[in-house]
Amino acid sequence: MDETVIILYYDIKNIFMKEGMKMNITKVTDDTYQLLANVRGFLFEGLWEIPNGVSINSYIIKGEKTAIIDGFGGWDGAAESLYDLLDEIDVKPESIEYLIINHMEPDHSQWLEDFNKINPNVKIVCSKTSADLLEAFYNQTENIIIANDDFELDLGNGHKLSFAMVPNVHWPDSMVTFDLLTKTLFSCDAFGSFGEVGENKFDDMLSEEELAFYEAEAVRYYSNIIGSFSMFVKRAIDKCAPLPIEIIAPGHGIMWRGNVDRIISDYSRYVEYQKGIAKEEITLIWGSMYGMTEKAVNHAVKVLEGEDIKVNVHRVPDTDDGTILASVWNSTGVILAMPTYEYKMFPALACTLEELGRKKAHGRKAFRFGSYGWSGGAQKQLDEIMENHKMNWEFLEPVEFKGNAKEDDLNLIEQRIKELVKEVKAITKP
Ligand code: FEO
Repeated sequence: MDETVIILYYDIKNIFMKEGMKMNITKVTDDTYQLLANVRGFLFEGLWEIPNGVSINSYIIKGEKTAIIDGFGGWDGAAESLYDLLDEIDVKPESIEYLIINHMEPDHSQWLEDFNKINPNVKIVCSKTSADLLEAFYNQTENIIIANDDFELDLGNGHKLSFAMVPNVHWPDSMVTFDLLTKTLFSCDAFGSFGEVGENKFDDMLSEEELAFYEAEAVRYYSNIIGSFSMFVKRAIDKCAPLPIEIIAPGHGIMWRGNVDRIISDYSRYVEYQKGIAKEEITLIWGSMYGMTEKAVNHAVKVLEGEDIKVNVHRVPDTDDGTILASVWNSTGVILAMPTYEYKMFPALACTLEELGRKKAHGRKAFRFGSYGWSGGAQKQLDEIMENHKMNWEFLEPVEFKGNAKEDDLNLIEQRIKELVKEVKAITKP
């Protein structure tokens, strides 16, 4: 039997040691370097599938003093590998004066204790909330400098760093760091994406097709990880707007310098998508036990194929929630198709809807249909989920049928779908 590596929780060090992955270094701009590691084969936050992996990025600025931002998230924790890596840019780990923690999520911080063994004097620069978490997570209470919106850190050689507190993008302690000399925004989780990053690490080195890949990965990342905090993302974008940003260096994904406005406006769109009006797309989410609902779904798909609109079809529980969430985030319209199960909704669809509610995918135009055997019940549970999460989806009248759908039922489904398409098109028109 093949040996299977099972990674039970989000431990990057564990993954790196088991998979032998390596960090690499890229020059960003004057005296500034990116350390990047691509990782896959685990669930992000122990929850989310990442079919195309993710990069974990950190950054080093060499002024008269050296600072590292967002840590060594891809380091395996072994002293030799760190010495070898930093040798490339002529940095000794023990000479790093400052460690800037933009937020404390362990994908960027869980190597901290290993680094402290090599460099016990490093000064940690972080928000006040991060300082509390530092104690809780790593029992660290010393060598901490608290940053705030007015704080400036001078590394020498012109590299002056300013900070902006952006709570809840993604953790409550989140902040971003800005180098006034190179005009680089180290944006933490803002403007990031899933997806491994290849040789070409900047937007201006990528084709439109490659950029489209990162756009899809950015929606997946945004909707899965920070979608719930869209209001805070909006505040962060507004707060950073006055900065003369020339480079965006996020904690995950590609760096932006050719067109920084593109990723800023993409993120602004994702913020808006949370409220309901997204792309001219429809996502159909369905589940079926013995094929009765499935037959009606096949009919629905045929109807949708005859309409001039992009459609994403996902079966539950076969499709992971992260994929469905990204798809719904992009879609103004949602169709739900499920049977009743033990006087309630088909459970897999109920779970997915709960997740959509938790991530605050609000305000969709929607329609539901499905089969029942003993009695109805799906609608009651749907209403409860919508109410509990204040989702505010606007539904057309549902079509429920006992057993198999009859011709009249299929005609009604067709009629409602065409109505939904019309509504989605009308509302998404520029
Ligand atoms: Fe990459 Fe919120 O962490």
